[in-house]
Amino acid sequence: MMARPAADARRIARRIALLNNKGGVGKSGTTARLAEALAKAGKRVLVIDMDPQGNSSGMLGWRYDPKVKQPTISQAIKANTDPNEALGCARQVFQPIGWNCSYAERIQIAPARLPLENRMSEAGIGGAWLRLRQALEGADSDFDYVLIDCPPSLLHLTQLALAASDDAVIVTDADVYAIEGAIRARDLIEKKAGTHLSNPGLQIRGVILNKFQDTVRQREQRDSIHDIFGPLVWTPTVKYIESLATANTNSVSLEEFKGDRASEIRATYELLGQTFLKEIPLP
Ligand SMILES: Nc1ncnc2c1ncn2[C@@H]1O[C@H](COP(=O)(O)OP(=O)(O)OP(=O)(O)O)[C@@H](O)[C@H]1O
Ligand SMILES: [Mg+2]
Repeated sequence: MMARPAADARRIARRIALLNNKGGVGKSGTTARLAEALAKAGKRVLVIDMDPQGNSSGMLGWRYDPKVKQPTISQAIKANTDPNEALGCARQVFQPIGWNCSYAERIQIAPARLPLENRMSEAGIGGAWLRLRQALEGADSDFDYVLIDCPPSLLHLTQLALAASDDAVIVTDADVYAIEGAIRARDLIEKKAGTHLSNPGLQIRGVILNKFQDTVRQREQRDSIHDIFGPLVWTPTVKYIESLATANTNSVSLEEFKGDRASEIRATYELLGQTFLKEIPLP
């Protein structure tokens, strides 16, 4: 009998876009903390920052040094306008993150800076929405998961992310406008991914409720999130915790974080990471 080839000889990364058509709900923070939870669980994770604000890049401790001129995801997408440079060209922009924790080496970042805005004006070029997918082709196969942090709009930068992704996770808070943004994100995926983005297999795997405050108003909105998205809503809910915002903006890993409620925050993301692994398992 012939020996079977090693099942894991070539890993294929699973790509997940995190999105909502509403700003400030915690897309970037959730991307960074899920990357952390997955790396802690032994997975190799690439974070792609598709927001010109560069918030997930900053939260992961990446800093732009004009003397070194680190490449960003904008350059990989731009390079891809030339078909000779297209396939796999994103590899040149993968970099270490800036954390010092024990699992930091399992996370890499394709960072973003403001010039990523310039890619928007190229949206009309034929096939433009496929540029990220092509730039990643073969480049990300050493990772288990690729988390793509989207900007709050549903226009070209988010569409690049959705065209490149296998799965989508919506991040929301318990607010009417955020829920409306989540519904618009869901509708874009369900109605347009197959036709406009050449990605009929894209599926929403989860809805993360973030920044939850236990008030009457937020409890009502939480109930409507469950009514609308049903079993897609993940546990646990992430509470609004002031010190988490401090950890995020100070670019601190949860292993190094010493602020208020640190163990509660660590436990929350460990559980959220377990839900992620259950709902989006590797093949
Ligand atoms: N659970 C939380 N508790 C407290 N603060 C939080 C929580 N989640 C995120 N934040 C903070 O809220 C702010 C907005 O979060 P974040 O930048 O992740 O949102 P976003 O959806 O990515 O925003 P944008 O649409 O601008 O990209 C940040 O200061 C972040 O640290
Ligand atoms: Mg963000």
